[in-house]
Amino acid sequence: MGVFIFQKTLMMNKLFSVLFFLIHVWILTRGDAEVSCQLGQSCILPCSFTPGDDPAIHWIQLTLIKAKVHSYHDNKDHWVHQDQRFRGRTSLFKDQISKGNASLQLTGVMVQDEGRYQCFTSTITHKNTSLLTIRIECEAEVYCQFGQSCILPCSFTPGDDLVIHWMYWKPTQAEVHYYYLNKDHLEHQHQRFRGRTSLFQDQFSKGNASLQLTGVMVQDEGGYNCLARTIADKGGRCFTMKVYAPPQKINMKQTENQIICSSDGIYPEPDLSWSISPPSSRTFQNTTRVQETEELLYNISSSLTLSDGEDDLDYICTISTPSNQRRASWRRGPSVKIISGEATISCSASDSSLKGFSLVWSFNQNQMIVTKKEDDEQRVSEEWKQHVKDVSESGRLTLQHLSADHEGTYTCEVSKDEETNITQVSLSPAEESNNPHVTIIIVLTVIGISAVVIALVFFCRRRRRNAQRKAAEVSSVASNTEIILNRISEEAPADYGAVRNDQEQQAETTL
Ligand SMILES: *[C@@H]1O[C@H](CO)[C@@H](O)[C@H](O)[C@H]1NC(C)=O
Ligand SMILES: *[C@@H]1O[C@H](CO)[C@@H](O)[C@H](O)[C@H]1NC(C)=O
Ligand SMILES: *[C@@H]1O[C@H](CO)[C@@H](O)[C@H](O)[C@H]1NC(C)=O
Ligand SMILES: *[C@@H]1O[C@H](CO)[C@@H](O)[C@H](O)[C@H]1NC(C)=O
Ligand SMILES: *[C@@H]1O[C@H](CO)[C@@H](O)[C@H](O)[C@H]1NC(C)=O
Ligand SMILES: *[C@@H]1O[C@H](CO)[C@@H](O)[C@H](O)[C@H]1NC(C)=O
Repeated sequence: MGVFIFQKTLMMNKLFSVLFFLIHVWILTRGDAEVSCQLGQSCILPCSFTPGDDPAIHWIQLTLIKAKVHSYHDNKDHWVHQDQRFRGRTSLFKDQISKGNASLQLTGVMVQDEGRYQCFTSTITHKNTSLLTIRIECEAEVYCQFGQSCILPCSFTPGDDLVIHWMYWKPTQAEVHYYYLNKDHLEHQHQRFRGRTSLFQDQFSKGNASLQLTGVMVQDEGGYNCLARTIADKGGRCFTMKVYAPPQKINMKQTENQIICSSDGIYPEPDLSWSISPPSSRTFQNTTRVQETEELLYNISSSLTLSDGEDDLDYICTISTPSNQRRASWRRGPSVKIISGEATISCSASDSSLKGFSLVWSFNQNQMIVTKKEDDEQRVSEEWKQHVKDVSESGRLTLQHLSADHEGTYTCEVSKDEETNITQVSLSPAEESNNPHVTIIIVLTVIGISAVVIALVFFCRRRRRNAQRKAAEVSSVASNTEIILNRISEEAPADYGAVRNDQEQQAETTL
């Protein structure tokens, strides 16, 4: 029985502690009133109560350890237990307390003031607790490029006894840079900022408390606060710093029946979209993959499955972040043949000048042949020096001394600003009929054969004419003979036929 009661109380205790915890969570999370305060300004935290005798007012900040902000009872303020962070910065509206106004005025608002506050009031008859949350307004945004150095701006009214305190305060607090008594005090600097911060001391007299941060990382993103205090000024500035790493270069290449579009080291997370030009109503199968790198940047890659036999389409890949966009297009150009060791490959359909563009010709998607920068500076790779004959203003590449080893794909990449156009051309050996030597041989052969045929025809005609002439001669002889024979035939008609047949046979054989 005793054991049972013991277990029961244990259970009750557990139940109570769970309940207590839930109530605590509820108090901490229920929707409070919110007050926005400007950094460095003064701010009123509203609170009211039912007026009564012997009022007491206690303001508490609900941080991990509760901090006493302001206490009032027995008709006066009590400072003994006030947290030092609030020293000299709080006041009540004394003339309003009797009317049930327990609002607190807080001056020189700091980022550390952000959070939840409790206003506890009591009179002889009533007790009340209300909660509110202070948000520090930091609407300003500063953008810093990944890997670069960045100036975080802050200014103040110049004066003596300068103290500059740079804090990182969101999402967690960390000391960035502290300057007072005319020098830097970096003992408590967070290790993430070690060796990366500096102030422009020569600019202090101009009220410039800007901080230079080098080697910007994604982890540096967040809320910053600059407090620059002199005897004259208690100013400050807070802002949200955002890191960006725009897509630097888009790679596009073909593998079997797919086109891969990719770009590395982008921040924030990019979007990738495909489009086809001229626009097509059909959709192409495509899949995109995003990977986060160790530096918290993003690598993005997408593959688009090609359709067969649609050669003259441009496949356009666009990679974008909220602040930047880059585009690349890929197309297959008409294939080109090597003719007596030479070939000319066009970079684009149009013949317009590429002045001010950058150009790269490469072989089999990895071997660089020639690059031409925006300023027209041209560089040919060592391996291709003897093969590159000319690169025209429109990017047309003329190659020489080519062999079968040079068959393959040639890729031309033209870039300007945020756009790259890629043309891929395949180079193949010449077909027989296209070789001039073969052509000459064929032409000569044809001419030769024709000559022989013409000669033959001419010869035959002549022989026929000769034969006809002979036949005519023979027949005139024959007619003469006929007259003679006719005369003879009167005497011997039987023989005539024989002679005539003989003569006709003779004429036929001569033909
Ligand atoms: C207690 O405080 C809340 C919030 O300020 C207020 O709405 C409510 O009327 C107060 N109750 C009494 C009894 O004063
Ligand atoms: C309390 O008094 C101050 C100063 O007069 C006023 O600004 C504030 O609105 C009052 N607050 C309430 C809750 O009455
Ligand atoms: C502070 O000085 C730096 C370095 O000369 C300069 O780049 C920056 O623009 C200045 N900032 C302000 C707020 O004057
Ligand atoms: C890429 O795929 C999506 C769906 O996965 C589709 O909506 C889109 O049209 C495709 N893009 C092209 C260019 O076909
Ligand atoms: C992202 O790209 C970089 C540069 O190409 C490469 O070194 C890195 O391994 C890639 N990371 C991931 C997670 O794919
Ligand atoms: C890429 O091609 C498009 C369309 O043909 C053209 O308008 C654009 O100027 C080209 N851009 C570059 C960098 O060659």
